[in-house]
Amino acid sequence: MPRQIWEKKEVYPFRALREGVGMNRIGILTSGGDAPGMNACIRAVVRVALSQGLEVWGIRHGYAGLIRGEMGPMDRGSVANIIHQGGTILGTARSPEFTTREGRALAIQIIHKAGIDGLVLIGGDGTFRGGTLLKEESGVDIVGVPGTIDNDVYGTDYSIGFDTAINTALEAIDRIRDTALSHDRLFFVEVMGHHTGFIALESGIAGGAEELIIPEVPENIDKLCRQLDASFRRGKRSAIVVVAEVEQPGNAFRIAQEVRDKAGFESKVCILGHIQRGGSPTAWDRILASKLGAAAVEALENGKGGHMLGEINGKIAYTPLKDTWEKKKELDSDLKELVKLLSG
Ligand code: F6P
Repeated sequence: MPRQIWEKKEVYPFRALREGVGMNRIGILTSGGDAPGMNACIRAVVRVALSQGLEVWGIRHGYAGLIRGEMGPMDRGSVANIIHQGGTILGTARSPEFTTREGRALAIQIIHKAGIDGLVLIGGDGTFRGGTLLKEESGVDIVGVPGTIDNDVYGTDYSIGFDTAINTALEAIDRIRDTALSHDRLFFVEVMGHHTGFIALESGIAGGAEELIIPEVPENIDKLCRQLDASFRRGKRSAIVVVAEVEQPGNAFRIAQEVRDKAGFESKVCILGHIQRGGSPTAWDRILASKLGAAAVEALENGKGGHMLGEINGKIAYTPLKDTWEKKKELDSDLKELVKLLSG
């Protein structure tokens, strides 16, 4: 049951502010779509913060829970045995209320009542957009950690959850290839990615996709039909086209229909959907989550609020929260070229 913790202040008395640090109690929340590895990050934040003498309060259900005051103290045991679990033990949500000034004012009141001096936000660009405003309006120190399967956050090479998601998509593509080969079929496999093609590009390369449809490349169904036709004429009997969903699930059905109308190719469509969000995080995601969680606490302690902690070329990178959603992260153009070279 969520607890309205500020009513229980006497049960969890404030520790005296540590000299020179000014940071005593930090809050942590996960927001937006869940991503495998978020739990590993929560664990790292809690344990590193406790080891530094800070108190940590877990806020449930993202900004929606913050507005409702769903929060409580966390100890080392509260994050035991979660490193291997997908999802987020704190729960998450998308909160329309928080996008309003009134909603954020409620959240700010609660943050102050709870005596929270610093916040760790784990989420994607929408989370950091809200976090930027929250910081401006509350003055509370806020740091972000990129946690989204989409990998579309500026300021980090990889976001927590992406590696697991592409491996999940890859496993599905491999399985589809078995049946595509057996039946001599054309398949359209739709992957997630919000409005970007990161998941499609990397799972497509790893899965040997014949073609990719991603939002970063203007769609050209005539060209796709010509390329498929050419490869069937060369003797190919099956093909997999990986399609990015682009906001709305079902994009692959539309493309399959257009290909049928234009070139007469029959096909099957497989939408991977939320399967890509679940599952045990890969080692990569667990390690990245642990490193970034620890770095987030360090950043708060060192007065680096207002930044997102990412990893660029293997090194921890600080990016102003505002840049994480205002600037656009580009796809690796070499990888895009590679797809063209490799498609048989
Ligand atoms: O941001 C993660 C993500 O899974 C996107 O890839 C997808 O577009 C969206 O969330 C789906 O959101 P929801 O689960 O709220 O439908």
